[in-house]
Amino acid sequence: MQKILIKNIKGLVQVGENIPMIRKGKAMQELPILENAFLALEDNEVIAYGLMEDWEGITDWRDLEVVDAEGRYVLPAFCDSHTHTVFAKTREEEFVDKIHGLSYEEIAAKGGGILNSARKLAEMSEDELLELAQIRINKMIACGTGAIEIKSGYGLSVDAELKMLRVIKRLKANNSIAIKATFLGAHAFPLEYKENHRGYIDLIINEMLPIIAKEKLADYIDVFCERNYFSVEEMSEILEAGKKYSLIPKVHVNQFSVMGAVSKAIELGALSVDHLEELGEEDILALQNSNCIPTILPGCSHFLGIPFGDARRMINADLPVALASDFNPGSTPNYNLFTIWSLACIKLKMTPEEAFNALTINAAFAMGLSETHGKICIGSKSPLILTKEIPSLAYLPYSFGELNVERIFV
Ligand code: NIG
Ligand code: FE
Repeated sequence: MQKILIKNIKGLVQVGENIPMIRKGKAMQELPILENAFLALEDNEVIAYGLMEDWEGITDWRDLEVVDAEGRYVLPAFCDSHTHTVFAKTREEEFVDKIHGLSYEEIAAKGGGILNSARKLAEMSEDELLELAQIRINKMIACGTGAIEIKSGYGLSVDAELKMLRVIKRLKANNSIAIKATFLGAHAFPLEYKENHRGYIDLIINEMLPIIAKEKLADYIDVFCERNYFSVEEMSEILEAGKKYSLIPKVHVNQFSVMGAVSKAIELGALSVDHLEELGEEDILALQNSNCIPTILPGCSHFLGIPFGDARRMINADLPVALASDFNPGSTPNYNLFTIWSLACIKLKMTPEEAFNALTINAAFAMGLSETHGKICIGSKSPLILTKEIPSLAYLPYSFGELNVERIFV
């Protein structure tokens, strides 16, 4: 058994026995911090914590690694509830196109975008994809990410979608952090189905879904509901079909347009609605009457130069907000959630505490990990971040671009 005692912790963050599953509205400002604390772990499970003055006799001193955290904070690792971590190649050429003035939609129209990634992925073996994704996951963990949702969606054929999902299944088995799989066959229409939407949707429903269910390859189902991609009706049909196999919806909506997708997805039991760069009053209303968590992806807005999701409007409407990276080769080549924390503060005007809740408990909720992740309590096994020596918690999002991680406990 591996026993670790972390002592003299400047601030033990998001700690307690009554941490709620989500914080919303004004409560997003709440963040319990124990100052001058200790934390005892056995095989990474929290067995005790408290104030330094109370720690005597708590721990059995045999075979114990003692970590002195003077001047440093201990945080529950972030949960990244929306990523596209499995992909074949990066897409810098589109980045340059963007610099020359082309929009995301114009790049997609000339064969770039998701279809570009699908072409590259089709040629790559499952083993090679696995190896590349594992390298990325290692980097994500080093940046403090302790749970990752990963989507398919660069396959867009029966074989390639299954290949992606099998890679994710192997990643789950090979990693000690929690990984959730989302089937995103409805990410874009492949070229050969551009004029035959029916054909591709039938492929998803009749060919892909039964195998995915049989091999237990996915936890969630996603659709990119957007003009030039999937309509609200098409999304509904696909989500309904997924439901028959107990796949819970987590969807891409309102990235470029308000189309009624939010209320429809909620009606179909969505756990989260993600992107929301555009938001109508009717969307707010639908969210208020639901258990669905809006998830904002500021890295995508930053990289594409599109509007940022309006976190303040959501919080003022007493909604919860989750934040995620959207890590992918097209719209967000960044997986570092410290960057997202900074962007949330700088661009979304979230306070450091609000944004931290959005990256921990609220994000854990958005990926079905509320019981175990995003918080520090007795019995919790969430990975933990030990920061470097820093003057305050707010220094972490303030010092944007600086990585203040000293050690990760996984
Ligand atoms: O979440 N918007 C749809 N999907 C991804 C981008 C995919 C890509 O460009 O490769 C996103 O931003
Ligand atoms: Fe995405």
